Amino acid sequence: MFNFFRSLKSQDVLVEKPQHIAIIMDGNGRWAKKRFMPRISGHRKGLESVRAVITQCQKLNIPFLTLFAFSTENWLRPTQEVNFLMTLFQDSLKKESSSLIKNNIRFKVIGDYKPFPKKLINKIKELESLTEKNTGLTLTIAINYGGRWDILNAVNEFQKKNHSKKLLTQKNLTQNLSLNFAPDPDLLIRTGGEKRISNFLIWQFSYTEFYFTETLWPDFNEKAFMSALIEFQKRERRYGKTSEQL
Ligand code: IPE
Ligand code: IPE
Ligand code: MG
Repeated sequence: MFNFFRSLKSQDVLVEKPQHIAIIMDGNGRWAKKRFMPRISGHRKGLESVRAVITQCQKLNIPFLTLFAFSTENWLRPTQEVNFLMTLFQDSLKKESSSLIKNNIRFKVIGDYKPFPKKLINKIKELESLTEKNTGLTLTIAINYGGRWDILNAVNEFQKKNHSKKLLTQKNLTQNLSLNFAPDPDLLIRTGGEKRISNFLIWQFSYTEFYFTETLWPDFNEKAFMSALIEFQKRERRYGKTSEQL
């Protein structure tokens, strides 16, 4: 076990390296509550885990990482918390933009960010275009994202382009989804113990391997990430075939 863990640290020995990892970063509130701190301090601490996971993906040459930061349902939270999350996102963009550029990261945002403040929208667009040609990790942040919103949006986009004259195919739908620049995730990690996908990438998860851990997001570090990868390596991905056919 130890050897295997150590070998995982080198990118060459990964038997089957995930090309795309998606993460539902859950458990910030509970992390804070356990320490008698306000929920928002859990969100702030969670940023350290975001940095750790990005660094690991870069080390292992994993091309795509998609993080769920705010769902279409999260508007139902107390206004104060929603406002804090928006501000935290905005501040992080400002603070981290130079390091994203320096680290050759291609930055993307998916979700319906139309209702956000103009300043934030401009910052997102600016950072996306500044990093557009980068060839390292594609880091996607899902904000005001919902899988149902995404599918509906894709159908409507298709209808607009084709004046509803053509029947929609799986390929057409995929091309119009907001994550059309990435392959389907190989691995979904959800921290915080819940075993659900909370309206995340519902279309793209059709053959994704799910990994649920009790670890709360602010405690999710390099070691916890490697444990998820070790578990992923043990999965047999059959896509409908039998073991013998693989
Ligand atoms: C995840 O942590 C962060 C967001 C949904 C923005 P939570 O805030 O959901 O933390 P718990 O689930 O209450 O512990
Ligand atoms: C899912 O977490 C959304 C994000 C991590 C951004 P939630 O904590 O909002 O999920 P539910 O509502 O408990 O399923
Ligand atoms: Mg939660």
